[in-house]
Amino acid sequence: MSPSNESSTAAAAAARPGKVMTLESINKRVVNFEYAVRGEQAIRAEQLRKQLADRPGSLPFKSIVSCNIGNPQQLQQSPITFFRQVSALTEYPDLMKPENLPMTSKIFPSDAIQRAKELLVAMSGSSGAYTHSQGIPLVRERVAKFIEQRDGYPSNPDNIFLTAGASPGVQTVLQTLIAHDKVGIMIPIPQYPLYTASIALFGGNAVPYYLDEARDWGLTVEELSRSLAESRSQGLDVRALCVINPGNPTGQCLSLDNMRQIVDFCHREKLVLMADEVYQTNIYKPAELPFHSFKKVLKSMGPAYEGVELVSFHSVSKGTVGECGRRGGYFECTGIDPQVQEMFYKIASVSLCPPAQGQLMIEHMVNPPKPGDPSYELYAKENTAIYGKSRPESLRRRADKLASAFNTLEGVTCNAAQGAMYLFPRVRLSDKAIKAAEAAGKTPDGFYSMALLEATGVCVVPGSGFRQEKDTFHFRSTFLPPEEQMDQFIASIKTFHSEFMDKYR
Ligand SMILES: Cc1ncc(COP(=O)(O)O)c(C=O)c1O
Repeated sequence: MSPSNESSTAAAAAARPGKVMTLESINKRVVNFEYAVRGEQAIRAEQLRKQLADRPGSLPFKSIVSCNIGNPQQLQQSPITFFRQVSALTEYPDLMKPENLPMTSKIFPSDAIQRAKELLVAMSGSSGAYTHSQGIPLVRERVAKFIEQRDGYPSNPDNIFLTAGASPGVQTVLQTLIAHDKVGIMIPIPQYPLYTASIALFGGNAVPYYLDEARDWGLTVEELSRSLAESRSQGLDVRALCVINPGNPTGQCLSLDNMRQIVDFCHREKLVLMADEVYQTNIYKPAELPFHSFKKVLKSMGPAYEGVELVSFHSVSKGTVGECGRRGGYFECTGIDPQVQEMFYKIASVSLCPPAQGQLMIEHMVNPPKPGDPSYELYAKENTAIYGKSRPESLRRRADKLASAFNTLEGVTCNAAQGAMYLFPRVRLSDKAIKAAEAAGKTPDGFYSMALLEATGVCVVPGSGFRQEKDTFHFRSTFLPPEEQMDQFIASIKTFHSEFMDKYR
């Protein structure tokens, strides 16, 4: 270093006597973005959980019920046995050495052993090795086959990117789309906070379109058009429409007609369609509102719509798989410029590869045991709720039960869940409660949710974290607590709510 460089570096350091990284100095986008699902209530819940462990009996409840996040296995949903067997074998392949096979075969069915061997070959022999940045080719082939069977249209493994859950996939696409500070991304309100948080982080603008609470959180093209026209008139360069179907936090499912209108809207307005379909197997009214993928709907609309750019997201975190901690997901590109896909690949390469075990879980999700396979019977039982403590059949019952209970509460209305894992009840709070919230420096729904947590140990997320129509207050609760604990759970919410309403009457 030359003497003059040395002295200018020293001068810069002297001008910064404290730490280099302070809230004032770091990236403002990092400071300012919000992520409600793991926000204030979740942090307080962790403190209370610790207090209960250190000093049992010191709180008016025995445990924390984490209804703030769709984390099925935290709320006692058991993993699918076959999936874990294959994972265990790929983690410890010595179990499949000839000398150990007699013992291993007593515990692991032959199809699990076979699958583990096949996947190990596809992973260069070890789940500890980096994989292809876009994801293990064999797993991408299986994803493509799953999509073809689901939709009845071809799918190309080269257009599939395996990711560490759906979240990094959504972020990859948003990051690529947000080229300057006037880019707008249309998102539903209420929305899953991944969208507002990521758009804020990447320096774009969330363009809200409102779901209609009075019509089961329905999505109308009139509202999409209003929102788009308004934001374009403000000079925004609106580039994409995000749709969450089934919806989080609303639980709504789109009808086929509605989906066609949305595709048509994207075609007309030249918008990239980002289809978040992570809840595609959490469907509670399959006869009236079955799941349709946007890929299928787009393809069924014929050559006139070939130009529509669609990215569809899926995940191992939800449904009966519920393996959120393993971080597995994928996105499929339809109609995306190959040069842009190369950029997606470049972004994926920066993190080297998605977690290998997450990729394996994707393989199991899209290629579960088939009729006739040794593991099929158990898989089918676990998956279809014959013993049903924590499977969708039971989830549907829990959803209905909790929604009915919310609807009996004073000032509360709650739409039934058609899909996903959440209810988003609206709470009408008195002026006195709203003033008390203001005095406590909280939003009214944040104040209500915190009071619920302190009184009952039930942790929900205030509606403001998902955004909501002005002067309305909601909270989001999963309906994942085990069925046998549901009555107790509902009773504690009822008692809390009537005491809260009386206190602020
Ligand atoms: C609508 C929606 N999209 C994406 C995700 C992200 O899931 P993951 O990154 O675990 O796949 C979630 C998680 O709750 C979600 O609700």
